[in-house]
Amino acid sequence: MTFCTDILIIGGGAIGLATAVDLALRGATVTVLSRNFSQAALHAAAGMLAPQAEQLVSPLLDLGLRSRDLYPHWTAQLTALTGLDCGYWPCGILAPVETANPVTDYTAQRIGESQWLDQAEIQAHQPGLGAQVRGGWWYPLDGQVDNQSLAIVLKTAAERLGIHLLEGESVHSFHYQGDRISQLTTTAGTWQAQTYILATGAWSAELLPVPIVPCKGQMLAVQGPTEAPLPLNQVIFGQQTYLVPRRSGKVVIGATSEYVGLRAGNTPAGMQALLARAISLYPPLQDWPIVDFWWGFRPATPDGLPILGTSNYKNLILATGHYRNGILLAPVTAQLIADLVVQQRVDPLLIPFHWQRFAT
Ligand code: GLY
Repeated sequence: MTFCTDILIIGGGAIGLATAVDLALRGATVTVLSRNFSQAALHAAAGMLAPQAEQLVSPLLDLGLRSRDLYPHWTAQLTALTGLDCGYWPCGILAPVETANPVTDYTAQRIGESQWLDQAEIQAHQPGLGAQVRGGWWYPLDGQVDNQSLAIVLKTAAERLGIHLLEGESVHSFHYQGDRISQLTTTAGTWQAQTYILATGAWSAELLPVPIVPCKGQMLAVQGPTEAPLPLNQVIFGQQTYLVPRRSGKVVIGATSEYVGLRAGNTPAGMQALLARAISLYPPLQDWPIVDFWWGFRPATPDGLPILGTSNYKNLILATGHYRNGILLAPVTAQLIADLVVQQRVDPLLIPFHWQRFAT
């Protein structure tokens, strides 16, 4: 059977859904194909919005800052569409340093608003940090979104906008005619669209020759006190581990970075490493109950930058490879890709992320 749509997005993660919503708001007819919505990195992330704490550098920093700036309006718009809260919380991120070198760390060049805190100041800013913390950076404009809530809100928004969401359909192959994609075959049949958008994250190389490999991240969550004032009111971004406190008192602890292909599951070694580092960073959490643990796959590219924009095929757009920053970059990716599809407008921000940087 052959199905037709204007725009076919392959991938139902943060990037695919955000782009679908943006396009539908501009009047396009959109279908999203997903093998399994719950497998997307969106569900596995912690939801940090951390262009500064992650120490991104340009051009990724420029993209990240633009996207962080879009977050208040983007999440408010999603809430207006759905009546649901995304858990956006511009709570700031504190980045403790354990081996502070007062010369290099204090004078490190920082872009945007940030503040160096010495040992006494950082302990006052966040009581309970490990005694080995020697200082750190405070990034008041970084923050977080509750990625689990965002996943529900994006899917609900897509449904409300009449986007066709098809789950359980795996893509077999693209078919080409000259410089265009003519159709796509899936487990359910054949799809024909005017425009195809590839947003398949860690699975992208299964469909096209893009240099993307999965980078596994294991995570867990503990339940801290629920009464105000919460002991953690800001993200703590340690040198190898981060703690992302939710308003419910739950604290997400992340994440390992493992190049083990798509090998599923939490491992004793992964959990042990995460717990040891989290306890060292913030000892009070050692007594809090573990309430969940999970894993996911980041789509990693050789240079850590996403692959965005046009492709060798006139009707195929690439929006994949967001590595550690898919949730942060969802609103800006959606906006720039929708501009490209609807207005054929190439924003200068897109140019450094074109796939051709890998063509040798
Ligand atoms: N953005 C944090 C991570 O990927 O672990």
